Amino acid sequence: MSDLFSAFDFSARTALVTGGTRGIGRAITASLAEQGARVYFCGTNRELGEKVEQELSGSKGPVHFLPADISSLDQAKTLVDTILEREGQLDFLINNAGITRDNIFLRMKEQEWDEVMAVNLKGCFNCTRAAVKSMVKKRFGRLIYLSSVVGMMGNAGQANYAASKAGIIGFSKSMARELASRQITSNVIAPGYIETEMTAGMTEKAKEEMMSLIPARRLGTVDDVAQAVIFLVSPLASYITGQVLQVNGGLLMP
Ligand SMILES: NC(=O)c1ccc[n+]([C@@H]2O[C@H](COP(=O)([O-])OP(=O)(O)OC[C@H]3O[C@@H](n4cnc5c(N)ncnc54)[C@H](O)[C@@H]3O)[C@@H](O)[C@H]2O)c1
Repeated sequence: MSDLFSAFDFSARTALVTGGTRGIGRAITASLAEQGARVYFCGTNRELGEKVEQELSGSKGPVHFLPADISSLDQAKTLVDTILEREGQLDFLINNAGITRDNIFLRMKEQEWDEVMAVNLKGCFNCTRAAVKSMVKKRFGRLIYLSSVVGMMGNAGQANYAASKAGIIGFSKSMARELASRQITSNVIAPGYIETEMTAGMTEKAKEEMMSLIPARRLGTVDDVAQAVIFLVSPLASYITGQVLQVNGGLLMP
């Protein structure tokens, strides 16, 4: 994480990062904790969650893992209520958890559509629903949603994923309009191609083809995305809401 961010002190802030057990969510969890925030992260893999909690235990702010499947409204509510009971507040909600079930549309099964919508889009509804009342009461909140460049470009073989990521943008903009007067901002981060387990399955040839389309000539890193989150939750971004911040090396300039 860049030294530029060392000026932030988030020790009075509590954050929830969904899907923090690996990839981008893990980097966001680590970065927020590095700025002193009290960070909770969730995931469905308890063993991995506890391992990451242990690995990040030396951070400036405390890091806690809570197992939860965010596609369930009940589990999202229990997750947020646990944080509110322990901390009395939830300031930053980072809706990061996401899955892919890729298939060309002619072969796409209903289950592949439903599973992606349940985690990627309904998961955002579930966690926001669980968290937003307490933010309204406190007159402060930062909502961040992880979309994707393919939510704007579309992608062959990802109709379900692209639709869920486009849906997130409309959802976040609506939250921005409803909540701005309560000092709650809502913004989307739309990463391009980031090196994580999610993209590890790409062949070298596919990676090279992708890089030829990226003006920066490299895939993104998880820290490229985490730094954008730190900016958007920081006091520097208090007048920024309803926006989509592209973190894609110039791949798409809408
Ligand atoms: N990697 C990329 O290139 C890329 C590009 C654009 C957008 N994104 C988005 O960024 C986010 C993170 O991507 P990543 O590459 O780190 O993914 P990843 O697959 O490496 O990690 C996803 C995380 O979400 C968690 N998760 C999955 N289903 C869950 C559920 N039902 N409940 C709770 N947690 C759940 C997983 O346990 C994991 O911690 C996703 O929303 C993804 O769509 C990624």
